[in-house]
Amino acid sequence: MEVFRIRGGSPLRGTVTVSGSKNAALPMFAATLLSEEPSVLENVPDLSDVRFMAEILQHLGAKVERLGPTGWRITPSSIDHRAPYDLVRKMRASVCLLGPLVGRLRKAVIPLPGGCVIGQRPIDLHLKAISKLGAKATIREGDVYIDGSTLKGGSMFLGGRQGSTVTGTANAIMAAVLAPGSTRIESAACEPEILDLCRMLQGMGARMDGIGSHILTIEGVDALRGCRHQVIPDRIEAGTYCIAAAITDGEVRVEGARTEHLGAFADKMEQAGVELKADGADAVLARRHPDGLCSLEIITLPYPGFPTDLQAQACALACVSPGLSILTERIYPNRFMHVPELLRMGADVSIEGSSAIVRGVSCLSGAPVMASDLRASAALILAGLAAKGDTWVQRIYHLDRGYEHFDEKLTQLGAEVERLPESALPQAAQNEAVS
Ligand code: EPZ
Repeated sequence: MEVFRIRGGSPLRGTVTVSGSKNAALPMFAATLLSEEPSVLENVPDLSDVRFMAEILQHLGAKVERLGPTGWRITPSSIDHRAPYDLVRKMRASVCLLGPLVGRLRKAVIPLPGGCVIGQRPIDLHLKAISKLGAKATIREGDVYIDGSTLKGGSMFLGGRQGSTVTGTANAIMAAVLAPGSTRIESAACEPEILDLCRMLQGMGARMDGIGSHILTIEGVDALRGCRHQVIPDRIEAGTYCIAAAITDGEVRVEGARTEHLGAFADKMEQAGVELKADGADAVLARRHPDGLCSLEIITLPYPGFPTDLQAQACALACVSPGLSILTERIYPNRFMHVPELLRMGADVSIEGSSAIVRGVSCLSGAPVMASDLRASAALILAGLAAKGDTWVQRIYHLDRGYEHFDEKLTQLGAEVERLPESALPQAAQNEAVS
């Protein structure tokens, strides 16, 4: 396993280019299965989750070709309906295979995705969507068996206790585009990644209205053609670099950041004393307000609310912002695995229910810390960039799932970040890691 050694204290300056969105690309890989013709995806981020999804499609029988660092061609001329347990269990996003397999083959066998450190991750709404389209789902020995022989258009309400479901909406859409008749999806997720998926499906010949809204109507067609689609930039990566600029008191031009995707985030950053100035349609200049950082109050919500995927990073910023900040999770109430590690760096955070109460400190101190999930890893790295001394972030394979070349991009901005083998850890940290 590898670790990051981060020597804190350097203000980040320069330009960073945001990669394609992981959470747009993963359902799009699945969507290519809806046609037997080849599809080409461009601006795909070079991430372990993406390579993993490609491996799963290959296992299903699709021909998968890499076209350079950010391009893929997928030719699913003949595919199997069974997703492999040993692959699917490692990546929850593979649940997105459900919709396309049912839409194209009228049947699917998908292992139930387990939970993960950020929460339970149920799929009841996914199964509700499929059943509203006339398919029958049975769960046996940890697998979901779907009989979609009677698939047809239908109406559904996809809101759950925490609001819409992003990949649940993706599955509903991908099954409905090939279901005979009309489908109406209420309380559909309207994240930019879902909008981008709909655009890709339209490029394949799908017929739908209401794209970008909470109510989608879809007219099923008999077959879809292949397409060529460019993945949108990753708004979560963009937000992460904006916070990196602010937490190090630097100034970073984040290229590829679409201001229309950053609404709630930009609003909260303004409250926190972070200036995000649009620089053209596809770039943002991020830096601290001249008056400095201040406390912030965040509640994570489905889009267009503040994204849960930026909560941990905002928590790291709050740790060095004067005053009392409150960050409340309405999507994943336990998504605070980064907090115990931030405490090791001298942060002052307490968890009350689904909220983190953060009292800003003047300076964090570097320490060996343990990454637990993708966004927690990013939060610990941001904290390390601001801390005095060296921070060793272990298990950075979590980070590599969702951030392309994070260490290289940070180094280009002037950060002192090194990717090292675990053996480079200071002895004390190695002892702790083993205990
Ligand atoms: C997507 O996950 C993202 N992943 C997550 O990003 C993101 O945090 C999440 O949406 C919320 O924005 C991908 O797009 C690959 P949900 P998803 O279904 O679709 C509950 C990252 O860091 N729910 O929108 O799995 C669920 O428990 C990852 O990039 C049900 O109750 O999330 C949660 O509380 C992490 N029943 C809420 O809804 C269901 O059937 C939102 O979940 C489905 C979900």
